[in-house]
Amino acid sequence: QRSISRHLSCAGTIAANFGSEEQPPGGAETGSEDKIPKKRFFEVQEERREQAQRTVLIHCPNNINEKKFLKYLSQHGPINNHFFYESFGLYAVVEFCQKDSVDSLQNGTHIPKQSAEPAIPFKSRFLNLKLKNSSNQIPEQLYAQKTNQSPPSSKKLFELLNCAESIDDQLNTLLKAFQLTEENVRLRHLTCSLIEDIAAAYFPGCVIRPFGSSVNTFGKLGCDLDMFLDLNEVGKFDVHKNAGNFLMEFQMKTVPSERIATQKILCVIGECLDNFGPGCVGVQKILNARCPLVRFSHQASGFQCDLTANNSIALKSSELLYIYGSLDSRVRALVFCVRCWARAHSLTSSIPGAWITNFSLTVMVIFFLQRRSPPILPTLDSLKSLADAEDRCILDGHNCTFVRDLNKIKPSGNTETLELLLKEFFEYFGNFAFNKNSINIRQGREQNKPDSSPLYIQNPFEMSLNISKNVSQSQLQKFVDLARDSAWILEQEDKGQPSPSSKQPWGLATLLLPPGTVYTSLSKKRKKPVSEKVKGLLESIKSSTTDSSKGTRGK
Ligand code: GTP
Ligand code: MG
Repeated sequence: QRSISRHLSCAGTIAANFGSEEQPPGGAETGSEDKIPKKRFFEVQEERREQAQRTVLIHCPNNINEKKFLKYLSQHGPINNHFFYESFGLYAVVEFCQKDSVDSLQNGTHIPKQSAEPAIPFKSRFLNLKLKNSSNQIPEQLYAQKTNQSPPSSKKLFELLNCAESIDDQLNTLLKAFQLTEENVRLRHLTCSLIEDIAAAYFPGCVIRPFGSSVNTFGKLGCDLDMFLDLNEVGKFDVHKNAGNFLMEFQMKTVPSERIATQKILCVIGECLDNFGPGCVGVQKILNARCPLVRFSHQASGFQCDLTANNSIALKSSELLYIYGSLDSRVRALVFCVRCWARAHSLTSSIPGAWITNFSLTVMVIFFLQRRSPPILPTLDSLKSLADAEDRCILDGHNCTFVRDLNKIKPSGNTETLELLLKEFFEYFGNFAFNKNSINIRQGREQNKPDSSPLYIQNPFEMSLNISKNVSQSQLQKFVDLARDSAWILEQEDKGQPSPSSKQPWGLATLLLPPGTVYTSLSKKRKKPVSEKVKGLLESIKSSTTDSSKGTRGK
């Protein structure tokens, strides 16, 4: 406990100027899962959405006086929360208590005076604050305090890991250093809300919902922002007005398929973002993909955004992962560690290709935790059996029903440590019969593979699909080799207490070192396969260390 709080203050991820007395709506999103009872996914999302609608994003001069800035904005109504961050300039996220205040602020906001290039007069909640007299100097202590929106550097991470007290402590440290902060979650929801304003120009009443790792409890600082345009909200609440013998419908154009409708909608929204969306740059319309999307950078927030439409199963998958991530505090720690490990060894990549994805890795961890004895996570079928009539959900003909109230799920009686689970994870998948078996979190059992894909992970809802169809045999082999090496490294770890003064990486730090650092620098003379090299290297370290060095860094 002591070392975790020490590391947190080192990492500096907790904002000092944040409204601390107020509990964030999404405890599980940011790792504060101790706050029970746990909220349902949609409650969290709705609260976040409403909060974002009362919020504005303001580009500020670097030498802004925080106090005066808040006083100036308070003319429009009381402010609930605010924070500053840096991303090619200084930005403020300001949440008012009431939505009216945003309207009032916008009413008092000017369209920029004609400069060198004419502006397109699109009025959004992304504003620019200018100082009338910019020469006024203020003392530095009055400058705005900035929150951090980036993941820690490798150097910082290794420092944090090296001063942890045990491998369990290292896993928790890694989670705390990488998980989305409260401010980052707010910024993600605000970005969706700003895009929603633009999309609503075409489709009034539409909703832009974040999904994927921004909301499923497995988001790492710096991860992309997946969002989808939900048009089902339009007219959803008007049903009761169609009483009696009449039913009123909108006149609409029709197209030959849902896919074409999605492509057309995304095409115009992509154009709109490109032409009028403040801060939206590098807009790419990737409409022929299996799941058509518009990809762009939201410059002010720094998020790489993927906008899809007609994608409610993906949102349901996010809800399922949210449940798994919130049930037991070990789940997120293990998933973060496995994701970081895979990234460090280039098993995953931001470029699409034959590599394993973070989504697949997460499902593999969930499956592994279902296989423990006693299980740490329930199967999807058992979550379905706990569902009541209100949980019933059929999407595109697929049964996506599962219990949504986290409080109805019994906690696991399993008390295994994170260190043991991590080692067993590597061992389990280092020896998994991938040639014959598939992974299936619905039943939590290995099953015969229905086709010859090297890695077969059944899609939890569209059960005839494989979420890792893209993974090549060589990428799978690389995963297996690294898993075996990592199991072996953890096996060698001594149970002794590491010394915080030790400079040498130990435990998790050893596993996360990218290839070419310690491993190759010490074993470069050998021309053996990677697994052999690592074993050789560790043997050589062991033999060159005397007994007195044991226990100095947990080795
Ligand atoms: P990051 O790598 O942190 O972005 O993780 P992510 O979970 O957000 O993954 P990604 O951005 O690639 O995909 C977003 C969401 O789309 C995932 O969380 C899944 O819900 C869904 N998804 C991604 N890949 C697949 C797939 O191959 N099949 C299905 N059914 N859903 C997928
Ligand atoms: Mg994502």
